[in-house]
Amino acid sequence: MPYDVHAVRADFPILSRQVHGRPLVYLDSAASAQKPRHVIDTMTEVMTAEYANVHRGVHWLSAAATRRFEEARTKVARFLNAAEDREIVFTRNATEAVNLVASSWGRANLREGDEVVISWLEHHANIVPWQMLRAEKGIVLKVVPVDDRGALVMEEYERLLASPRVRLVAMTAMSNALGTITPIAEVIELAHARGIPVLVDGCQAVTHLGVDVRALDCDFLVLSGHKLYGPTGVGVLYGKAELLSQMPPYQGGGDMIARVTFEETTFKDIPQRFEAGTPAIVEVIGLGAAIDYVSGLGLDRIRAHEQDVFDYASRRLQELNSVRVVGTAPERAGILSFTMEDVHPHDLATILDRSGVAVRAGHHCAQPLMDRFGVPATARASFGLYSTREEVDALVAGLERVREIFG
Ligand code: ALA
Repeated sequence: MPYDVHAVRADFPILSRQVHGRPLVYLDSAASAQKPRHVIDTMTEVMTAEYANVHRGVHWLSAAATRRFEEARTKVARFLNAAEDREIVFTRNATEAVNLVASSWGRANLREGDEVVISWLEHHANIVPWQMLRAEKGIVLKVVPVDDRGALVMEEYERLLASPRVRLVAMTAMSNALGTITPIAEVIELAHARGIPVLVDGCQAVTHLGVDVRALDCDFLVLSGHKLYGPTGVGVLYGKAELLSQMPPYQGGGDMIARVTFEETTFKDIPQRFEAGTPAIVEVIGLGAAIDYVSGLGLDRIRAHEQDVFDYASRRLQELNSVRVVGTAPERAGILSFTMEDVHPHDLATILDRSGVAVRAGHHCAQPLMDRFGVPATARASFGLYSTREEVDALVAGLERVREIFG
Protein backbone atom coordinates (compact mmCIF):
# COMPACT_ATOMS: atom_id res chain seq x y z
CA MET A 1 0.00 0.00 0.00
CA PRO A 2 1.46 3.41 -0.91
CA TYR A 3 2.33 5.67 2.01
CA ASP A 4 -0.21 8.48 2.02
CA VAL A 5 1.58 11.19 3.96
CA HIS A 6 -1.36 13.58 3.68
CA ALA A 7 -3.66 11.06 5.34
CA VAL A 8 -0.99 10.54 7.99
CA ARG A 9 -0.77 14.29 8.58
CA ALA A 10 -4.50 14.42 9.15
CA ASP A 11 -3.92 12.20 12.21
CA PHE A 12 -1.86 14.98 13.86
CA PRO A 13 -4.15 17.84 14.88
CA ILE A 14 -1.31 20.29 15.55
CA LEU A 15 -0.02 20.06 11.97
CA SER A 16 -3.02 21.98 10.66
CA ARG A 17 -2.35 25.03 12.81
CA GLN A 18 -0.73 28.24 11.68
CA VAL A 19 2.27 30.00 13.21
CA HIS A 20 2.81 33.72 12.58
CA GLY A 21 -0.06 33.50 10.10
CA ARG A 22 1.71 30.82 8.04
CA PRO A 23 1.10 27.06 7.89
CA LEU A 24 3.26 25.28 10.44
CA VAL A 25 6.26 23.48 8.94
CA TYR A 26 7.44 21.37 11.84
CA LEU A 27 11.03 20.27 11.29
CA ASP A 28 11.97 19.66 14.92
CA SER A 29 10.86 16.08 15.50
CA ALA A 30 14.29 15.05 16.81
CA ALA A 31 13.73 17.37 19.77
CA SER A 32 10.20 16.10 20.25
CA ALA A 33 7.77 14.54 17.82
CA GLN A 34 4.15 15.66 17.48
CA LYS A 35 1.35 13.45 18.75
CA PRO A 36 -1.28 11.61 16.70
CA ARG A 37 -4.90 11.84 17.71
CA HIS A 38 -4.81 8.19 18.75
CA VAL A 39 -2.32 9.04 21.54
CA ILE A 40 -4.23 12.16 22.60
CA ASP A 41 -7.55 10.33 22.62
CA THR A 42 -6.18 7.30 24.46
CA MET A 43 -4.74 9.46 27.23
CA THR A 44 -7.96 11.44 27.53
CA GLU A 45 -9.99 8.26 27.59
CA VAL A 46 -7.85 6.72 30.34
CA MET A 47 -8.21 9.81 32.51
CA THR A 48 -11.90 9.97 31.73
CA ALA A 49 -12.82 6.34 32.27
CA GLU A 50 -10.07 4.06 33.57
CA TYR A 51 -7.77 6.06 35.78
CA ALA A 52 -6.51 5.00 39.21
CA ASN A 53 -3.14 4.14 40.71
CA VAL A 54 -1.56 0.92 39.49
CA HIS A 55 -0.30 -2.23 41.24
CA ARG A 56 -1.88 -1.13 44.52
CA GLY A 57 -5.64 -1.23 44.69
CA VAL A 58 -8.00 -4.16 44.79
CA HIS A 59 -10.79 -2.04 43.36
CA TRP A 60 -12.01 -2.34 39.80
CA LEU A 61 -10.52 0.92 38.53
CA SER A 62 -7.06 0.14 39.87
CA ALA A 63 -7.19 -3.28 38.23
CA ALA A 64 -8.30 -1.71 34.94
CA ALA A 65 -5.51 0.88 35.03
CA THR A 66 -2.95 -1.76 35.99
CA ARG A 67 -4.03 -3.96 33.10
CA ARG A 68 -3.64 -1.09 30.62
CA PHE A 69 -0.32 -0.06 32.14
CA GLU A 70 1.07 -3.58 31.85
CA GLU A 71 -0.36 -3.96 28.34
CA ALA A 72 1.80 -0.97 27.40
CA ARG A 73 4.84 -2.80 28.74
CA THR A 74 3.97 -5.74 26.48
CA LYS A 75 3.63 -3.37 23.51
CA VAL A 76 7.08 -1.89 24.15
CA ALA A 77 8.56 -5.38 24.57
CA ARG A 78 7.05 -6.51 21.25
CA PHE A 79 8.09 -3.31 19.49
CA LEU A 80 11.70 -3.88 20.53
CA ASN A 81 11.42 -7.68 20.21
CA ALA A 82 12.51 -8.14 23.82
CA ALA A 83 12.41 -11.71 25.07
CA GLU A 84 10.24 -10.90 28.11
CA ASP A 85 8.05 -8.05 29.34
CA ARG A 86 10.08 -7.81 32.56
CA GLU A 87 13.03 -6.59 30.50
CA ILE A 88 11.16 -3.31 30.01
CA VAL A 89 11.59 -0.72 32.78
CA PHE A 90 9.63 2.52 32.60
CA THR A 91 11.63 5.60 33.50
CA ARG A 92 10.96 9.34 33.33
CA ASN A 93 12.92 9.66 30.07
CA ALA A 94 15.93 8.21 28.26
CA THR A 95 18.25 10.34 30.37
CA GLU A 96 16.95 8.72 33.52
CA ALA A 97 17.39 5.30 31.91
CA VAL A 98 21.11 5.96 31.32
CA ASN A 99 21.44 7.33 34.85
CA LEU A 100 19.77 4.18 36.15
CA VAL A 101 22.38 1.97 34.46
CA ALA A 102 25.27 4.21 35.53
CA SER A 103 24.05 4.36 39.13
CA SER A 104 22.92 0.78 39.58
CA TRP A 105 25.00 -1.38 37.23
CA GLY A 106 27.90 1.06 37.19
CA ARG A 107 28.26 1.44 40.95
CA ALA A 108 27.96 -2.31 41.44
CA ASN A 109 30.33 -3.37 38.69
CA LEU A 110 32.89 -0.65 38.03
CA ARG A 111 36.04 0.08 40.00
CA GLU A 112 38.75 2.69 39.80
CA GLY A 113 40.60 2.45 36.51
CA ASP A 114 37.82 0.56 34.72
CA GLU A 115 37.04 1.99 31.32
CA VAL A 116 33.73 2.96 29.70
CA VAL A 117 33.87 3.53 25.94
CA ILE A 118 31.55 6.16 24.45
CA SER A 119 31.79 8.14 21.19
CA TRP A 120 32.02 11.72 20.01
CA LEU A 121 28.48 11.38 18.70
CA GLU A 122 26.91 11.05 22.13
CA HIS A 123 24.15 13.19 23.52
CA HIS A 124 25.01 14.76 26.90
CA ALA A 125 22.72 12.13 28.46
CA ASN A 126 25.25 9.47 27.49
CA ILE A 127 28.28 11.48 28.60
CA VAL A 128 27.47 13.26 31.84
CA PRO A 129 26.22 10.24 33.88
CA TRP A 130 29.53 8.49 33.14
CA GLN A 131 31.48 11.61 34.11
CA MET A 132 29.57 11.68 37.40
CA LEU A 133 30.54 8.06 37.95
CA ARG A 134 34.11 8.96 37.05
CA ALA A 135 34.11 11.61 39.80
CA GLU A 136 32.72 9.11 42.28
CA LYS A 137 34.56 5.91 41.38
CA GLY A 138 37.60 6.95 39.37
CA ILE A 139 36.52 5.16 36.19
CA VAL A 140 38.06 6.25 32.89
CA LEU A 141 36.05 7.50 29.89
CA LYS A 142 37.38 6.60 26.46
CA VAL A 143 35.91 8.33 23.43
CA VAL A 144 35.75 6.88 19.92
CA PRO A 145 36.46 9.70 17.46
CA VAL A 146 34.47 10.58 14.35
CA ASP A 147 35.95 11.55 11.01
CA ASP A 148 35.29 14.82 9.19
CA ARG A 149 32.02 13.42 7.88
CA GLY A 150 30.79 12.52 11.34
CA ALA A 151 31.23 8.77 10.88
CA LEU A 152 32.69 6.64 13.69
CA VAL A 153 36.35 5.72 13.23
CA MET A 154 35.99 1.99 13.72
CA GLU A 155 39.76 1.31 13.75
CA GLU A 156 40.00 3.57 16.79
CA TYR A 157 37.07 1.79 18.39
CA GLU A 158 38.84 -1.53 17.95
CA ARG A 159 42.04 -0.03 19.35
CA LEU A 160 40.19 1.24 22.46
CA LEU A 161 38.43 -2.10 22.93
CA ALA A 162 41.77 -3.88 23.08
CA SER A 163 42.39 -2.46 26.56
CA PRO A 164 41.81 -5.13 29.21
CA ARG A 165 40.13 -2.51 31.45
CA VAL A 166 37.09 -1.84 29.21
CA ARG A 167 33.96 -2.87 31.13
CA LEU A 168 31.17 -1.22 29.13
CA VAL A 169 30.49 0.34 25.74
CA ALA A 170 27.75 3.02 25.79
CA MET A 171 26.94 4.28 22.31
CA THR A 172 24.25 5.83 20.21
CA ALA A 173 22.76 3.96 17.27
CA MET A 174 21.99 7.26 15.55
CA SER A 175 23.24 10.77 16.28
CA ASN A 176 20.58 13.27 17.32
CA ALA A 177 22.77 16.13 16.14
CA LEU A 178 24.04 14.92 12.73
CA GLY A 179 21.78 12.02 11.80
CA THR A 180 24.76 9.65 11.51
CA ILE A 181 23.71 6.00 11.75
CA THR A 182 26.43 4.15 13.60
CA PRO A 183 27.34 0.54 12.75
CA ILE A 184 25.88 -0.47 16.09
CA ALA A 185 25.56 -4.18 15.23
CA GLU A 186 29.28 -4.33 14.51
CA VAL A 187 30.02 -2.22 17.62
CA ILE A 188 28.14 -4.78 19.73
CA GLU A 189 29.69 -7.79 18.01
CA LEU A 190 33.21 -6.50 18.58
CA ALA A 191 32.49 -5.70 22.23
CA HIS A 192 30.86 -9.07 22.86
CA ALA A 193 33.83 -10.85 21.33
CA ARG A 194 35.68 -9.48 24.37
CA GLY A 195 32.86 -10.15 26.82
CA ILE A 196 32.01 -6.44 27.16
CA PRO A 197 28.33 -5.46 27.52
CA VAL A 198 26.86 -2.65 25.41
CA LEU A 199 24.32 0.03 26.22
CA VAL A 200 22.66 1.52 23.14
CA ASP A 201 21.15 5.00 23.06
CA GLY A 202 18.21 4.19 20.81
CA CYS A 203 16.32 7.49 21.08
CA GLN A 204 16.59 8.36 17.40
CA ALA A 205 17.10 4.86 16.00
CA VAL A 206 13.84 3.43 17.35
CA THR A 207 11.94 6.24 15.67
CA HIS A 208 13.70 6.43 12.32
CA LEU A 209 15.08 2.93 11.80
CA GLY A 210 13.41 0.52 14.21
CA VAL A 211 15.42 -1.65 16.59
CA ASP A 212 15.32 -5.37 17.31
CA VAL A 213 17.13 -5.83 20.61
CA ARG A 214 17.44 -9.58 20.20
CA ALA A 215 18.82 -9.38 16.68
CA LEU A 216 21.26 -6.70 17.86
CA ASP A 217 21.92 -8.60 21.06
CA CYS A 218 22.45 -5.31 22.93
CA ASP A 219 22.58 -5.59 26.71
CA PHE A 220 20.80 -2.31 27.48
CA LEU A 221 18.88 0.10 25.29
CA VAL A 222 17.32 3.40 26.25
CA LEU A 223 14.58 5.27 24.44
CA SER A 224 12.41 8.27 25.00
CA GLY A 225 8.63 8.20 24.58
CA HIS A 226 8.12 11.70 23.30
CA LYS A 227 10.41 11.21 20.31
CA LEU A 228 8.37 8.16 19.35
CA TYR A 229 5.15 10.19 18.95
CA GLY A 230 4.20 9.45 22.56
CA PRO A 231 3.92 11.81 25.53
CA THR A 232 6.70 13.39 27.55
CA GLY A 233 7.49 12.07 31.01
CA VAL A 234 8.09 8.47 29.99
CA GLY A 235 11.20 6.70 28.79
CA VAL A 236 12.27 3.09 28.64
CA LEU A 237 15.22 1.08 29.79
CA TYR A 238 15.47 -2.28 28.07
CA GLY A 239 17.90 -4.62 29.78
CA LYS A 240 18.56 -8.31 29.39
CA ALA A 241 16.79 -10.07 32.26
CA GLU A 242 19.96 -11.75 33.47
CA LEU A 243 21.66 -8.34 33.81
CA LEU A 244 18.72 -6.43 35.30
CA SER A 245 18.09 -9.22 37.81
CA GLN A 246 21.55 -8.81 39.25
CA MET A 247 21.36 -5.04 39.59
CA PRO A 248 20.61 -3.26 42.87
CA PRO A 249 17.73 -0.76 43.02
CA TYR A 250 18.25 2.72 41.62
CA GLN A 251 15.72 4.63 43.72
CA GLY A 252 13.96 3.45 46.85
CA GLY A 253 10.30 3.93 47.72
CA GLY A 254 6.85 2.54 47.18
CA ASP A 255 6.04 -0.18 44.65
CA MET A 256 9.62 -1.48 44.41
CA ILE A 257 9.68 -3.29 47.76
CA ALA A 258 8.70 -6.77 48.83
CA ARG A 259 8.76 -6.10 52.59
CA VAL A 260 9.81 -3.11 54.67
CA THR A 261 10.69 -3.03 58.36
CA PHE A 262 12.76 -0.34 60.04
CA GLU A 263 15.60 -2.81 60.22
CA GLU A 264 15.55 -4.17 56.72
CA THR A 265 13.87 -3.94 53.33
CA THR A 266 13.66 -6.55 50.60
CA PHE A 267 12.96 -5.64 47.00
CA LYS A 268 10.64 -6.82 44.29
CA ASP A 269 11.88 -8.63 41.24
CA ILE A 270 12.46 -6.80 37.95
CA PRO A 271 11.05 -4.61 36.51
CA GLN A 272 9.21 -3.23 39.59
CA ARG A 273 12.48 -3.08 41.51
CA PHE A 274 13.44 -0.16 39.27
CA GLU A 275 10.07 1.60 39.27
CA ALA A 276 9.92 3.31 42.65
CA GLY A 277 6.92 5.52 43.34
CA THR A 278 3.79 6.09 41.30
CA PRO A 279 4.80 5.83 37.65
CA ALA A 280 3.66 8.05 34.79
CA ILE A 281 0.54 5.91 34.38
CA VAL A 282 -1.30 7.85 31.68
CA GLU A 283 1.92 8.59 29.80
CA VAL A 284 2.97 4.95 29.77
CA ILE A 285 -0.42 4.00 28.33
CA GLY A 286 -0.01 6.88 25.85
CA LEU A 287 3.34 5.46 24.80
CA GLY A 288 1.63 2.13 24.18
CA ALA A 289 -0.85 3.95 21.94
CA ALA A 290 2.01 5.65 20.07
CA ILE A 291 3.59 2.27 19.43
CA ASP A 292 0.26 0.95 18.12
CA TYR A 293 0.07 3.93 15.80
CA VAL A 294 3.63 3.62 14.49
CA SER A 295 3.31 -0.15 14.11
CA GLY A 296 0.03 0.34 12.26
CA LEU A 297 1.77 2.50 9.67
CA GLY A 298 4.71 0.09 9.54
CA LEU A 299 8.28 1.03 10.36
CA ASP A 300 9.54 -0.08 6.94
CA ARG A 301 7.11 2.23 5.16
CA ILE A 302 7.89 5.08 7.55
CA ARG A 303 11.60 4.58 6.98
CA ALA A 304 11.22 4.58 3.20
CA HIS A 305 9.11 7.74 3.32
CA GLU A 306 11.48 9.56 5.65
CA GLN A 307 14.46 8.55 3.55
CA ASP A 308 12.83 10.07 0.48
CA VAL A 309 12.26 13.36 2.33
CA PHE A 310 15.77 13.26 3.78
CA ASP A 311 17.43 12.61 0.40
CA TYR A 312 15.39 15.37 -1.19
CA ALA A 313 16.34 17.79 1.62
CA SER A 314 20.03 16.85 1.31
CA ARG A 315 19.96 17.59 -2.41
CA ARG A 316 18.11 20.89 -1.97
CA LEU A 317 20.47 22.10 0.77
CA GLN A 318 23.50 21.16 -1.32
CA GLU A 319 22.22 23.48 -4.02
CA LEU A 320 22.44 26.42 -1.62
CA ASN A 321 25.99 27.73 -1.82
CA SER A 322 25.67 29.61 1.45
CA VAL A 323 24.70 26.53 3.46
CA ARG A 324 27.22 24.08 4.91
CA VAL A 325 25.82 20.74 5.99
CA VAL A 326 27.58 19.56 9.15
CA GLY A 327 27.78 15.79 9.14
CA THR A 328 27.98 14.06 5.79
CA ALA A 329 28.50 10.44 6.83
CA PRO A 330 27.32 7.98 4.15
CA GLU A 331 24.80 6.36 6.52
CA ARG A 332 22.38 9.01 7.75
CA ALA A 333 18.67 9.46 8.30
CA GLY A 334 16.05 11.90 9.42
CA ILE A 335 18.28 14.76 10.62
CA LEU A 336 20.21 17.50 8.79
CA SER A 337 22.45 19.91 10.66
CA PHE A 338 23.75 22.98 8.89
CA THR A 339 25.25 26.41 9.25
CA MET A 340 25.09 29.49 7.06
CA GLU A 341 28.10 31.71 6.58
CA ASP A 342 28.01 34.87 8.73
CA VAL A 343 24.60 34.03 10.21
CA HIS A 344 24.25 32.72 13.75
CA PRO A 345 22.03 29.61 13.83
CA HIS A 346 19.73 31.35 16.33
CA ASP A 347 19.15 34.25 13.92
CA LEU A 348 18.59 31.76 11.15
CA ALA A 349 16.04 29.79 13.17
CA THR A 350 14.30 33.00 14.27
CA ILE A 351 13.86 34.20 10.70
CA LEU A 352 12.69 30.76 9.57
CA ASP A 353 10.18 30.78 12.40
CA ARG A 354 8.62 33.97 11.03
CA SER A 355 7.64 31.96 7.99
CA GLY A 356 6.24 29.13 10.09
CA VAL A 357 9.29 26.87 9.76
CA ALA A 358 10.34 25.34 13.10
CA VAL A 359 13.95 24.10 13.29
CA ARG A 360 16.16 23.71 16.33
CA ALA A 361 19.21 25.95 16.69
CA GLY A 362 21.85 25.24 19.29
CA HIS A 363 24.28 22.55 20.34
CA HIS A 364 21.62 19.83 20.40
CA CYS A 365 22.87 18.55 23.77
CA ALA A 366 26.06 17.45 22.03
CA GLN A 367 28.61 20.16 22.77
CA PRO A 368 31.70 17.95 22.33
CA LEU A 369 30.45 17.07 18.85
CA MET A 370 29.99 20.77 18.01
CA ASP A 371 33.57 21.33 19.21
CA ARG A 372 34.72 18.52 16.90
CA PHE A 373 33.27 20.42 13.93
CA GLY A 374 34.49 23.81 15.15
CA VAL A 375 31.03 25.34 15.52
CA PRO A 376 29.28 26.52 18.70
CA ALA A 377 25.91 25.54 17.28
CA THR A 378 24.09 24.47 14.15
CA ALA A 379 20.59 24.80 12.80
CA ARG A 380 18.94 21.40 12.58
CA ALA A 381 16.04 20.25 10.46
CA SER A 382 14.68 16.92 11.59
CA PHE A 383 11.99 14.93 9.89
CA GLY A 384 9.25 12.63 11.05
CA LEU A 385 6.73 10.26 9.59
CA TYR A 386 4.56 13.27 8.66
CA SER A 387 7.24 15.36 6.90
CA THR A 388 6.87 16.22 3.23
CA ARG A 389 8.94 17.42 0.30
CA GLU A 390 6.77 20.56 0.27
CA GLU A 391 8.00 21.30 3.79
CA VAL A 392 11.58 20.96 2.56
CA ASP A 393 10.74 23.48 -0.17
CA ALA A 394 9.43 25.85 2.53
CA LEU A 395 12.68 25.40 4.46
CA VAL A 396 14.75 26.17 1.37
CA ALA A 397 12.63 29.23 0.55
CA GLY A 398 13.11 30.38 4.14
CA LEU A 399 16.86 29.91 3.89
CA GLU A 400 16.95 31.93 0.69
CA ARG A 401 15.14 34.71 2.52
CA VAL A 402 17.69 34.57 5.35
CA ARG A 403 20.47 34.94 2.78
CA GLU A 404 18.75 37.96 1.28
CA ILE A 405 18.34 39.60 4.69
CA PHE A 406 21.98 39.04 5.59
CA GLY A 407 23.14 40.02 2.11
N1 ALA B 1 17.75 15.46 22.64
C1 ALA B 1 16.76 16.25 22.01
C2 ALA B 1 17.29 16.88 20.74
O1 ALA B 1 18.07 16.30 20.09
C3 ALA B 1 16.14 17.20 22.91
O2 ALA B 1 16.92 17.96 20.39
